[in-house]
This record gives sequence, C-alpha cells and structure tokens, in this order.
Amino acid sequence: TRGGPVLAVDGPAAAGKGTLAKRLASSLNLPYLDTGLLYRAVGRLVLDAGQDPAAPAEDFARRLRAEDTQRKGLRTQEVARAASLVAAQPAVRSALVETQRRFAQERGGVLDGRDIGTAIFPDADVKLFITASPATRALRRFLQMGEDPKAEGAAARLAAMEADLQARDAADAGRQAAPMQVAADAVVIETDTLSADAVLAEALRVVRERLGTHTA
Ligand code: CDP
Ligand code: CDP
Repeated sequence: TRGGPVLAVDGPAAAGKGTLAKRLASSLNLPYLDTGLLYRAVGRLVLDAGQDPAAPAEDFARRLRAEDTQRKGLRTQEVARAASLVAAQPAVRSALVETQRRFAQERGGVLDGRDIGTAIFPDADVKLFITASPATRALRRFLQMGEDPKAEGAAARLAAMEADLQARDAADAGRQAAPMQVAADAVVIETDTLSADAVLAEALRVVRERLGTHTA
C-alpha cells in the first residue's frame, strides 16, 4: 500500500497539465513529478550523443540520473520532438516505469504525463485528462516561450507551433506503447475557456468528490 493518494494528470501537449499538477500538489501537500521531463532528458542525452532519436535509446534511459532532468534547455521544441521519438520505444518506457512508481510510494503524489492513469498507475485515486483545442494550446505554448502574438511574422510562427504540437500529439496517441488516451475512469477537463485558477478549482472539486472532503 502507498503512503498517500496518487493523482494522474494526463493530456496533450501544452494543455496546462504541469501548471495544474504543480498547483494540485501544493494545495494537497503531495509530491509532484513532471514525467515529461524524464523523456525530455533522455531525448536531450540522445541529441548530445549525436544519435538519431528514432534509434534504440534504452541505454540512455537506463543511465538517466536525477541531475539530467534538472538541466536547462529541456523545454525546447527540438527536445520535445526527440522526447516523443524516444518515448515511442517500449524499452525506453519500461526503463522509466519503476522510477515513476517509486516516486509515489512513500507519500503518494501528483504525476503529469500521457500514460499515468492508463499504464503507470491504472489504480490512481484520481485521474484527470486535461485538454484544449490545438489553437488554444499552441497559443499557450507560444506565450509561455515569451513570444508576442502581435510581433512581425508571429502568425506564421504560431501556425508552425500548432502544426508541431499536433504532429507530436498524433505520434503520442498513435504509438503502440502506452499511447496517450483517456482512461475509462478519468474526468476530462476542457480548458479552452478556463483560466488556470478555474481549472484548479474544477480539479479540486473532482478530487474532493473522489477522495472525500477530509483530504482536500
Ligand atoms: O504541462 P503542459 O505542457 O500540459 O502545459 P503547461 O506548461 O502547464 O501550460 C502551458 C501554458 O498554459 C502555461 O504558460 C500556463 O500558464 C498556461 N495556461 C494554463 O496552464 N491553464 C490555463 N487554463 C490557461 C493557460
Ligand atoms: O509539455 P508538453 O506537454 O509539451 O510535453 P511533455 O509533457 O514534457 O512531454 C514530452 C514528450 O514526452 C511527449 O510528447 C511524449 O511523447 C512523452 N511523454 C510520454 O510519452 N509519457 C509521459 N508520461 C510523459 C511524456
């Protein structure tokens, strides 16, 4: 048995999973793990080694150290694309399963990713699937990267961002190994018209309903 509840936060790129998961963890006093960083760190190591991210990357995943996930420069589109390619490899995913399960063993936790509620913790206490339209998500990531939507050439860069996110979503949803999908018992939150505060409020409502009022 685990020392606390596990909350799974899954969904497509730039939906606001990390923002929500971090805030849920601090509201509920639970540890938080951004599992995308594990795949991004493996992608970074592969790129650094000059290897094609589509080539077998299991060794990089096995050798992954905590410091690798704390490096700067993991939030770029190049690293995200490499992450998605290594993440499609079953051997890479297997190498990272125990790290994720162990993380929540002692005190429970909030984990965000693609397969937390379906593959890593099919028995999670609460499963949330956070989503928004591709246009909303592209704009969120664009602003997050410090881009100004009114700047010269911004419309083309925003369109390229949207295409990039959609290509990654399609790969993540279409792969054989732990594809991104809505778990049968997940609550879907459509966030197009919701602020980050409103998403948190809705998620906390679901948490209270699932865990009982004493915990939240
Ligand atoms: O983790 P994920 O890639 O799903 O998204 P994120 O990095 O947490 O969020 C992307 C951006 O959307 C951040 O700049 C958030 O502040 C913003 N945002 C949000 O998370 N939720 C909303 N409802 C609106 C905006
Ligand atoms: O922040 P964003 O949603 O753009 O990406 P991320 O959550 O950091 O994940 C980067 C990539 O890692 C995704 O496109 C997936 O291919 C992969 N990933 C995964 O396969 N399983 C997870 N649990 C988390 C991420």
